[in-house]
Amino acid sequence: MRFIGNKTQLLNNIKDVVDRHAKEAASFCDIFSGTAAVARFFKEWYEVYSNDILYFSYCLQRGTIENPGRPSFDHLRELRGISDPIRYFNTFPVEEMECLENSRRLFQNSYAPAGGRMYVTDANALRIDYARNKIENWHDERLLTDDEYYYLVASVIEGIPYVSNIAGTYGAYNKTWDPRSYKQFLLQDLPVVSNGRSNRSYNMDGAQLLQKISGDILYIDPPYNARQYLPNYHVLETAAKYDFPKLKGVTGQRADAPQRSEFCSKKTVVHAFDELMKHARFRHIILSYNTDGLMTLDEIEMTMKKYGREESFEVNYIPYRRFKSRRDIVQEDELKEMLIYIQKDI
Ligand SMILES: C[S@@+](CC[C@H](N)C(=O)[O-])C[C@H]1O[C@@H](n2cnc3c(N)ncnc32)[C@H](O)[C@@H]1O
Repeated sequence: MRFIGNKTQLLNNIKDVVDRHAKEAASFCDIFSGTAAVARFFKEWYEVYSNDILYFSYCLQRGTIENPGRPSFDHLRELRGISDPIRYFNTFPVEEMECLENSRRLFQNSYAPAGGRMYVTDANALRIDYARNKIENWHDERLLTDDEYYYLVASVIEGIPYVSNIAGTYGAYNKTWDPRSYKQFLLQDLPVVSNGRSNRSYNMDGAQLLQKISGDILYIDPPYNARQYLPNYHVLETAAKYDFPKLKGVTGQRADAPQRSEFCSKKTVVHAFDELMKHARFRHIILSYNTDGLMTLDEIEMTMKKYGREESFEVNYIPYRRFKSRRDIVQEDELKEMLIYIQKDI
Protein backbone atom coordinates (compact mmCIF):
# COMPACT_ATOMS: atom_id res chain seq x y z
CA MET A 1 0.00 0.00 0.00
CA ARG A 2 1.17 3.55 -0.74
CA PHE A 3 1.89 4.94 2.73
CA ILE A 4 4.42 7.45 4.04
CA GLY A 5 7.27 5.48 5.58
CA ASN A 6 6.13 2.07 4.24
CA LYS A 7 9.08 -0.27 4.82
CA THR A 8 8.34 -2.90 2.15
CA GLN A 9 11.64 -1.96 0.44
CA LEU A 10 13.59 -2.44 3.66
CA LEU A 11 12.29 -5.85 4.79
CA ASN A 12 15.46 -7.73 3.90
CA ASN A 13 17.64 -5.06 5.53
CA ILE A 14 15.65 -5.37 8.75
CA LYS A 15 15.90 -9.15 8.55
CA ASP A 16 19.70 -8.91 8.17
CA VAL A 17 19.92 -6.96 11.43
CA VAL A 18 17.55 -9.37 13.18
CA ASP A 19 19.44 -12.44 11.93
CA ARG A 20 22.81 -11.08 13.01
CA HIS A 21 21.74 -10.13 16.52
CA ALA A 22 18.72 -12.15 17.60
CA LYS A 23 19.25 -15.78 16.63
CA GLU A 24 17.50 -17.11 19.73
CA ALA A 25 14.43 -14.85 19.44
CA ALA A 26 10.91 -16.25 19.22
CA SER A 27 8.77 -13.11 19.21
CA PHE A 28 8.73 -9.87 17.19
CA CYS A 29 6.80 -6.71 18.02
CA ASP A 30 6.05 -4.10 15.32
CA ILE A 31 4.88 -1.27 17.56
CA PHE A 32 4.15 1.30 14.76
CA SER A 33 2.76 -1.05 12.13
CA GLY A 34 1.21 1.33 9.55
CA THR A 35 0.52 -0.88 6.52
CA ALA A 36 1.44 -3.99 8.56
CA ALA A 37 4.07 -4.84 5.91
CA VAL A 38 6.79 -5.52 8.49
CA ALA A 39 4.56 -7.53 10.84
CA ARG A 40 3.25 -9.63 7.93
CA PHE A 41 6.77 -10.37 6.72
CA PHE A 42 8.11 -11.46 10.11
CA LYS A 43 5.04 -13.57 10.91
CA GLU A 44 6.64 -16.36 8.92
CA TRP A 45 9.32 -16.82 11.61
CA TYR A 46 8.06 -15.28 14.85
CA GLU A 47 5.09 -14.88 17.15
CA VAL A 48 4.13 -11.34 16.16
CA TYR A 49 2.60 -8.44 18.10
CA SER A 50 1.53 -5.49 15.99
CA ASN A 51 0.11 -2.10 16.89
CA ASP A 52 -0.78 1.35 15.58
CA ILE A 53 -2.75 4.33 16.80
CA LEU A 54 -4.68 4.43 13.49
CA TYR A 55 -7.77 2.24 13.42
CA PHE A 56 -7.45 1.38 9.73
CA SER A 57 -3.95 0.11 10.39
CA TYR A 58 -5.35 -2.00 13.21
CA CYS A 59 -7.84 -3.57 10.77
CA LEU A 60 -5.01 -4.37 8.32
CA GLN A 61 -3.11 -6.04 11.17
CA ARG A 62 -6.09 -7.73 12.80
CA GLY A 63 -7.11 -9.28 9.47
CA THR A 64 -3.69 -10.72 8.64
CA ILE A 65 -1.60 -10.89 11.84
CA GLU A 66 -3.98 -11.92 14.63
CA ASN A 67 -5.98 -14.09 12.22
CA PRO A 68 -4.57 -17.61 12.30
CA GLY A 69 -5.20 -18.12 8.56
CA ARG A 70 -7.46 -17.01 5.72
CA PRO A 71 -10.97 -17.36 7.17
CA SER A 72 -13.33 -20.07 5.93
CA PHE A 73 -16.62 -18.09 6.07
CA ASP A 74 -18.58 -21.18 7.17
CA HIS A 75 -21.73 -19.41 8.35
CA LEU A 76 -21.93 -17.26 5.26
CA ARG A 77 -21.63 -20.35 3.08
CA GLU A 78 -24.13 -22.42 5.05
CA LEU A 79 -26.75 -19.71 5.59
CA ARG A 80 -26.34 -17.49 2.51
CA GLY A 81 -24.60 -19.76 -0.01
CA ILE A 82 -21.64 -17.36 -0.26
CA SER A 83 -18.38 -19.26 0.10
CA ASP A 84 -16.06 -16.54 -1.20
CA PRO A 85 -17.29 -13.06 -0.20
CA ILE A 86 -14.36 -11.34 -1.95
CA ARG A 87 -15.36 -12.87 -5.25
CA TYR A 88 -19.02 -12.17 -4.41
CA PHE A 89 -18.39 -8.41 -4.05
CA ASN A 90 -15.96 -8.15 -6.94
CA THR A 91 -18.36 -9.74 -9.42
CA PHE A 92 -21.60 -8.20 -8.12
CA PRO A 93 -23.13 -5.90 -10.81
CA VAL A 94 -22.88 -2.26 -9.77
CA GLU A 95 -26.39 -1.56 -11.17
CA GLU A 96 -27.83 -3.90 -8.56
CA MET A 97 -26.03 -1.97 -5.82
CA GLU A 98 -28.28 0.99 -6.63
CA CYS A 99 -30.81 -0.53 -4.23
CA LEU A 100 -28.64 0.74 -1.35
CA GLU A 101 -30.49 3.56 0.46
CA ASN A 102 -28.97 7.01 0.04
CA SER A 103 -28.56 7.43 3.79
CA ARG A 104 -26.24 4.37 3.86
CA ARG A 105 -23.94 5.71 1.12
CA LEU A 106 -21.21 7.16 3.34
CA PHE A 107 -18.47 7.09 0.69
CA GLN A 108 -20.59 8.41 -2.15
CA ASN A 109 -21.97 11.25 -0.03
CA SER A 110 -18.56 12.16 1.42
CA TYR A 111 -15.75 11.46 -1.01
CA ALA A 112 -17.28 11.19 -4.50
CA PRO A 113 -18.83 13.75 -6.90
CA ALA A 114 -22.31 13.05 -5.44
CA GLY A 115 -20.96 14.54 -2.20
CA GLY A 116 -18.96 17.31 -3.90
CA ARG A 117 -15.50 15.67 -3.67
CA MET A 118 -13.33 13.65 -6.05
CA TYR A 119 -11.37 11.06 -4.04
CA VAL A 120 -13.17 8.23 -5.86
CA THR A 121 -15.74 8.03 -8.66
CA ASP A 122 -19.43 7.67 -7.79
CA ALA A 123 -19.45 4.09 -9.11
CA ASN A 124 -16.46 3.02 -7.01
CA ALA A 125 -17.85 4.84 -3.96
CA LEU A 126 -21.06 2.82 -4.36
CA ARG A 127 -19.05 -0.41 -4.57
CA ILE A 128 -17.22 0.50 -1.37
CA ASP A 129 -20.48 1.50 0.37
CA TYR A 130 -22.22 -1.69 -0.73
CA ALA A 131 -19.40 -3.88 0.58
CA ARG A 132 -19.02 -1.99 3.87
CA ASN A 133 -22.76 -2.05 4.59
CA LYS A 134 -23.01 -5.78 3.85
CA ILE A 135 -19.96 -6.55 5.99
CA GLU A 136 -21.45 -4.61 8.93
CA ASN A 137 -24.84 -6.30 8.48
CA TRP A 138 -23.36 -9.80 8.21
CA HIS A 139 -21.30 -9.18 11.34
CA ASP A 140 -24.34 -7.86 13.27
CA GLU A 141 -26.32 -10.94 12.16
CA ARG A 142 -23.44 -13.19 13.34
CA LEU A 143 -22.86 -14.50 9.84
CA LEU A 144 -19.22 -13.43 10.24
CA THR A 145 -16.87 -14.20 13.10
CA ASP A 146 -14.60 -11.35 14.28
CA ASP A 147 -11.70 -12.93 12.37
CA GLU A 148 -13.79 -12.93 9.18
CA TYR A 149 -15.10 -9.41 9.78
CA TYR A 150 -11.61 -7.87 10.12
CA TYR A 151 -10.31 -9.86 7.18
CA LEU A 152 -13.03 -8.38 4.95
CA VAL A 153 -12.61 -4.83 6.30
CA ALA A 154 -8.86 -5.15 5.60
CA SER A 155 -9.64 -6.38 2.07
CA VAL A 156 -11.76 -3.27 1.43
CA ILE A 157 -9.12 -0.88 2.83
CA GLU A 158 -6.35 -2.46 0.75
CA GLY A 159 -8.44 -1.99 -2.40
CA ILE A 160 -9.15 1.72 -2.01
CA PRO A 161 -5.67 3.17 -2.85
CA TYR A 162 -5.79 1.41 -6.27
CA VAL A 163 -8.73 3.61 -7.34
CA SER A 164 -8.05 6.79 -5.36
CA ASN A 165 -7.72 10.10 -7.19
CA ILE A 166 -4.85 11.47 -5.12
CA ALA A 167 -1.24 12.50 -5.59
CA GLY A 168 0.09 10.24 -2.84
CA THR A 169 -1.90 10.93 0.32
CA TYR A 170 -5.50 11.86 1.16
CA GLY A 171 -4.46 15.36 2.25
CA ALA A 172 -6.30 16.50 -0.91
CA TYR A 173 -7.86 14.99 -4.06
CA ASN A 174 -6.81 15.78 -7.64
CA LYS A 175 -8.94 18.32 -9.50
CA THR A 176 -9.07 16.10 -12.61
CA TRP A 177 -9.48 12.33 -12.67
CA ASP A 178 -6.32 10.24 -12.59
CA PRO A 179 -6.66 7.22 -14.96
CA ARG A 180 -6.40 5.02 -11.85
CA SER A 181 -9.79 6.30 -10.68
CA TYR A 182 -11.58 4.65 -13.62
CA LYS A 183 -10.48 1.15 -12.69
CA GLN A 184 -13.08 -0.92 -10.89
CA PHE A 185 -12.74 -0.97 -7.10
CA LEU A 186 -11.87 -4.51 -6.02
CA LEU A 187 -11.57 -6.01 -2.55
CA GLN A 188 -8.08 -7.50 -2.23
CA ASP A 189 -7.68 -11.18 -1.46
CA LEU A 190 -5.02 -10.97 1.27
CA PRO A 191 -2.67 -13.83 2.00
CA VAL A 192 -2.48 -14.78 5.68
CA VAL A 193 0.55 -16.64 7.02
CA SER A 194 -0.37 -19.45 9.43
CA ASN A 195 2.44 -19.77 11.96
CA GLY A 196 0.61 -21.66 14.69
CA ARG A 197 1.42 -19.02 17.32
CA SER A 198 -0.58 -16.58 19.44
CA ASN A 199 -0.09 -13.43 17.38
CA ARG A 200 -1.80 -10.26 18.67
CA SER A 201 -2.80 -6.91 17.17
CA TYR A 202 -3.44 -3.70 19.10
CA ASN A 203 -4.81 -0.21 18.47
CA MET A 204 -3.28 2.00 21.11
CA ASP A 205 -0.49 4.39 21.99
CA GLY A 206 2.81 2.56 21.59
CA ALA A 207 4.26 3.71 24.93
CA GLN A 208 1.19 2.48 26.79
CA LEU A 209 1.28 -0.87 25.04
CA LEU A 210 4.91 -1.37 26.04
CA GLN A 211 3.82 -1.28 29.68
CA LYS A 212 1.63 -4.33 29.00
CA ILE A 213 3.65 -6.63 26.77
CA SER A 214 7.15 -8.08 26.56
CA GLY A 215 9.09 -10.24 24.12
CA ASP A 216 12.35 -10.65 22.23
CA ILE A 217 12.57 -8.22 19.30
CA LEU A 218 11.04 -4.74 19.30
CA TYR A 219 10.92 -2.95 15.95
CA ILE A 220 10.21 0.78 16.29
CA ASP A 221 9.31 2.71 13.13
CA PRO A 222 7.88 6.04 14.33
CA PRO A 223 6.94 9.04 12.19
CA TYR A 224 10.16 10.96 11.59
CA ASN A 225 8.85 14.39 10.63
CA ALA A 226 6.07 16.84 11.49
CA ARG A 227 3.53 15.27 9.13
CA GLN A 228 0.70 13.75 11.15
CA TYR A 229 -0.70 10.53 9.72
CA LEU A 230 -4.46 10.83 10.31
CA PRO A 231 -5.03 13.94 8.11
CA ASN A 232 -3.13 12.19 5.32
CA TYR A 233 -5.11 8.93 5.53
CA HIS A 234 -8.51 10.09 6.86
CA VAL A 235 -10.41 8.45 4.00
CA LEU A 236 -9.00 5.02 4.89
CA GLU A 237 -9.76 5.67 8.57
CA THR A 238 -13.40 6.35 7.69
CA ALA A 239 -13.53 3.26 5.45
CA ALA A 240 -12.38 1.21 8.44
CA LYS A 241 -14.60 2.79 11.08
CA TYR A 242 -17.55 3.38 8.76
CA ASP A 243 -18.89 5.63 11.47
CA PHE A 244 -20.57 8.42 9.46
CA PRO A 245 -18.35 11.15 10.95
CA LYS A 246 -18.86 14.89 10.66
CA LEU A 247 -16.54 16.11 7.91
CA LYS A 248 -15.08 19.57 7.47
CA GLY A 249 -13.69 21.72 4.69
CA VAL A 250 -13.03 21.18 1.01
CA THR A 251 -10.89 18.11 1.66
CA GLY A 252 -13.47 16.51 3.99
CA GLN A 253 -11.23 15.85 6.96
CA ARG A 254 -12.84 14.11 9.92
CA ALA A 255 -13.99 16.76 12.40
CA ASP A 256 -13.22 14.58 15.45
CA ALA A 257 -10.12 15.33 17.54
CA PRO A 258 -7.01 14.36 15.55
CA GLN A 259 -4.70 11.73 17.00
CA ARG A 260 -1.58 13.85 17.33
CA SER A 261 1.62 11.89 17.67
CA GLU A 262 4.36 13.13 19.99
CA PHE A 263 6.82 11.80 17.42
CA CYS A 264 5.75 14.57 15.01
CA SER A 265 7.06 17.50 17.07
CA LYS A 266 10.65 18.47 17.77
CA LYS A 267 9.55 19.55 21.26
CA THR A 268 8.14 16.19 22.31
CA VAL A 269 9.87 13.57 20.18
CA VAL A 270 12.91 12.83 22.38
CA HIS A 271 10.74 12.45 25.47
CA ALA A 272 8.35 10.17 23.53
CA PHE A 273 11.24 7.98 22.37
CA ASP A 274 12.69 7.93 25.90
CA GLU A 275 9.36 6.60 27.20
CA LEU A 276 9.46 3.75 24.66
CA MET A 277 13.02 2.82 25.51
CA LYS A 278 12.37 3.04 29.24
CA HIS A 279 9.34 0.75 29.23
CA ALA A 280 10.50 -1.71 26.56
CA ARG A 281 10.84 -5.21 27.98
CA PHE A 282 12.48 -6.61 24.84
CA ARG A 283 16.09 -7.76 24.57
CA HIS A 284 16.67 -6.64 20.96
CA ILE A 285 15.57 -3.18 19.90
CA ILE A 286 15.72 -1.91 16.32
CA LEU A 287 14.78 1.65 15.42
CA SER A 288 14.07 2.73 11.83
CA TYR A 289 14.80 6.40 11.32
CA ASN A 290 15.84 8.84 8.65
CA THR A 291 18.94 11.05 8.66
CA ASP A 292 16.54 13.94 7.97
CA GLY A 293 14.28 13.17 10.96
CA LEU A 294 13.28 15.36 13.91
CA MET A 295 15.61 13.50 16.32
CA THR A 296 19.33 13.81 15.68
CA LEU A 297 21.49 10.71 15.71
CA ASP A 298 23.16 12.04 18.88
CA GLU A 299 19.78 12.25 20.63
CA ILE A 300 18.89 8.75 19.48
CA GLU A 301 22.24 7.34 20.59
CA MET A 302 22.03 9.01 24.00
CA THR A 303 18.52 7.74 24.62
CA MET A 304 19.21 4.20 23.46
CA LYS A 305 22.43 3.95 25.48
CA LYS A 306 20.66 5.30 28.57
CA TYR A 307 18.61 2.09 28.70
CA GLY A 308 20.65 -0.37 26.62
CA ARG A 309 24.10 -1.94 26.53
CA GLU A 310 26.43 0.75 25.20
CA GLU A 311 28.77 -1.67 23.42
CA SER A 312 25.95 -3.26 21.43
CA PHE A 313 24.83 0.05 19.84
CA GLU A 314 25.06 -0.13 16.03
CA VAL A 315 23.95 2.12 13.17
CA ASN A 316 23.29 0.68 9.71
CA TYR A 317 22.85 3.16 6.86
CA ILE A 318 20.71 2.33 3.85
CA PRO A 319 20.77 4.67 0.83
CA TYR A 320 17.37 6.23 0.27
CA ARG A 321 16.50 5.20 -3.27
CA ARG A 322 12.88 6.06 -3.74
CA PHE A 323 13.23 9.51 -5.23
CA LYS A 324 10.34 11.41 -6.66
CA SER A 325 11.90 14.51 -8.18
CA ARG A 326 15.20 15.79 -9.52
CA ARG A 327 15.54 18.00 -6.46
CA ASP A 328 15.46 14.90 -4.27
CA ILE A 329 18.06 13.11 -6.38
CA VAL A 330 20.55 15.86 -5.53
CA GLN A 331 20.08 14.86 -1.89
CA GLU A 332 20.93 11.23 -2.60
CA ASP A 333 24.20 11.30 -0.68
CA GLU A 334 22.81 13.05 2.37
CA LEU A 335 19.44 11.39 2.89
CA LYS A 336 19.65 7.87 4.29
CA GLU A 337 17.47 5.41 6.13
CA MET A 338 19.01 4.13 9.33
CA LEU A 339 18.43 0.86 11.16
CA ILE A 340 19.74 1.36 14.65
CA TYR A 341 20.23 -1.56 17.00
CA ILE A 342 20.79 -1.89 20.72
CA GLN A 343 20.50 -4.74 23.19
CA LYS A 344 18.70 -4.19 26.48
CA ASP A 345 19.14 -6.22 29.65
CA ILE A 346 15.68 -7.20 30.84
C1 LIG B 1 6.64 5.39 9.60
S1 LIG B 1 4.99 4.84 9.88
C2 LIG B 1 5.18 3.09 10.02
C3 LIG B 1 5.26 2.44 8.68
C4 LIG B 1 5.27 0.92 8.74
N1 LIG B 1 6.50 0.39 9.26
C5 LIG B 1 5.02 0.35 7.36
O1 LIG B 1 5.89 -0.35 6.80
O2 LIG B 1 3.93 0.60 6.83
C6 LIG B 1 4.66 5.38 11.50
C7 LIG B 1 3.36 4.89 12.11
O3 LIG B 1 3.34 5.23 13.48
C8 LIG B 1 2.00 5.44 13.88
N2 LIG B 1 2.02 6.18 15.16
C9 LIG B 1 2.38 7.45 15.38
N3 LIG B 1 2.37 7.73 16.71
C10 LIG B 1 1.99 6.59 17.35
C11 LIG B 1 1.83 6.24 18.71
N4 LIG B 1 2.05 7.13 19.69
N5 LIG B 1 1.46 4.99 19.02
C12 LIG B 1 1.23 4.08 18.02
N6 LIG B 1 1.38 4.36 16.71
C13 LIG B 1 1.76 5.60 16.36
C14 LIG B 1 1.40 6.18 12.71
O4 LIG B 1 0.00 6.08 12.71
C15 LIG B 1 2.07 5.47 11.53
O5 LIG B 1 1.26 4.44 11.04
